[in-house]
Amino acid sequence: MDFREEFKRKLITVDEAVSKVKSNDEVVVAMAGSEPRAFLKNLHRAKNNVENVSVVTCLNMENYEFTSSKDMKGHFTNETWFYSPLTRKSHEFKTTTFIPNHLHLSAVKRLDYKKPNIFVGTATPMDKHGYFSLSLSVTYEREYIENADIVILEINENLPRVYGDTSVHISEVDFIYENHTDVPELQIVEPSEKDMIIGNYIAELVEDGSTIQLGIGGIPNAVSKALMNKKDLGIHTEMITDGMYDLYKAGVITNRRKTLHKNKFIGTFALGTKKLYDFIDDNMGVELKRGGYTNDPYIIGQNYKMVSINTTLQVDLTGQCASESIGLRQYSGTGGQSDTAVGALNSVGGKSIIALYSTAKKGSISTIVPFLTQGAAVSLSRNDVDYVVTEYGVANLRGRGLKERVDNLISIAHPDFREDIKREAEKNLLW
Ligand code: COA
Repeated sequence: MDFREEFKRKLITVDEAVSKVKSNDEVVVAMAGSEPRAFLKNLHRAKNNVENVSVVTCLNMENYEFTSSKDMKGHFTNETWFYSPLTRKSHEFKTTTFIPNHLHLSAVKRLDYKKPNIFVGTATPMDKHGYFSLSLSVTYEREYIENADIVILEINENLPRVYGDTSVHISEVDFIYENHTDVPELQIVEPSEKDMIIGNYIAELVEDGSTIQLGIGGIPNAVSKALMNKKDLGIHTEMITDGMYDLYKAGVITNRRKTLHKNKFIGTFALGTKKLYDFIDDNMGVELKRGGYTNDPYIIGQNYKMVSINTTLQVDLTGQCASESIGLRQYSGTGGQSDTAVGALNSVGGKSIIALYSTAKKGSISTIVPFLTQGAAVSLSRNDVDYVVTEYGVANLRGRGLKERVDNLISIAHPDFREDIKREAEKNLLW
């Protein structure tokens, strides 16, 4: 069969794609590096024709006018599963709101609530069999392709062709437009001295032969560097990163001691630099699988010695972590933090590790606190944390009662704050 005719029949312009949006629609778009940027950059132009459109997104990569402009209020609401610095700003205009979620359930739960009218994703060019690759994310994208009334794909020849649950056949797609543009990159910030101290403490907890997950943020990049002397690590992670590629190149990641998906990198999205995208392109050793699978804690837990390594903003003296908000202010999202931590706890020999600097705001406040700031969202319950790491060491909470938790956490707080925290803990009989 020649699918090129079908491709031509379905080919439209970006403007035509935008014109499909109607008032009260639920429009869902692919996430992060897979965001359909031409569609989102032009969406605001439909403003005068539509009202009350929900645009469901995750980790916006650009400052799109449909959400960043105050004038869009009432026309579009960016309902997002993960805030980025850009959406933090538009929250104030009430053009953006947050959807609380465990990443592996984001699609299932939202689909229970609302049927999508339109899904817009990105994909590589079609192959001779009529297949596109969804490339950088299958976090929830496949579920939406299966459920949306209208499926539109933005085709970009610069996207890596990635294996896993990424294939979409042209028969599943209603419209296509082309936008052969650069692929969004996440610039890698070199770890600071403090990051490296934390990274080295974490590396001491990671045994050879472990399977690891690394979260978002500066500290995970330092962890990748600190793991350079390990042997036979494996990857089962939400996000595949540049640091993981560096570990592979150095021979540290071999994936050969994994007990699930042996010899393969497993993730649900990839975000990094061109170096990473070149590595995952047409690489049968790398698979992106649906978020509902990859991030399912019971799947994660099937990996032997699964170590989850995530970052947080504030930890109370019992181990509760506020990782996505600063007080009432939504900062990012739960993402896969809870999925991966609980997954690690389910694993034989697994460890759930959380890391943070001991202070914030230029050293003026402690991030280890007797109580979380009022209004803070708890991303990780105290039952789901084994180790908390700061630049002052490792607090082991595994199996520990409140008294030891309080003592151990105070011991890794910044020395300037330890006495005050201790006094508060004693005054309030925390143990
Ligand atoms: N009170 C006030 N401000 C605080 C704070 C606190 N308790 N703790 C941190 N901050 C500030 C910091 O000072 C910093 O601000 P600055 O940039 O002005 O110095 C900012 O908050 C955090 O720094 P940022 O660089 O944005 O953090 P990061 O990129 O290292 O990310 C998380 C850290 C926790 C936000 C991020 O890891 C996250 O969103 N985690 C939840 C999701 C997750 O872990 N998913 C895992 C699966 S991929």
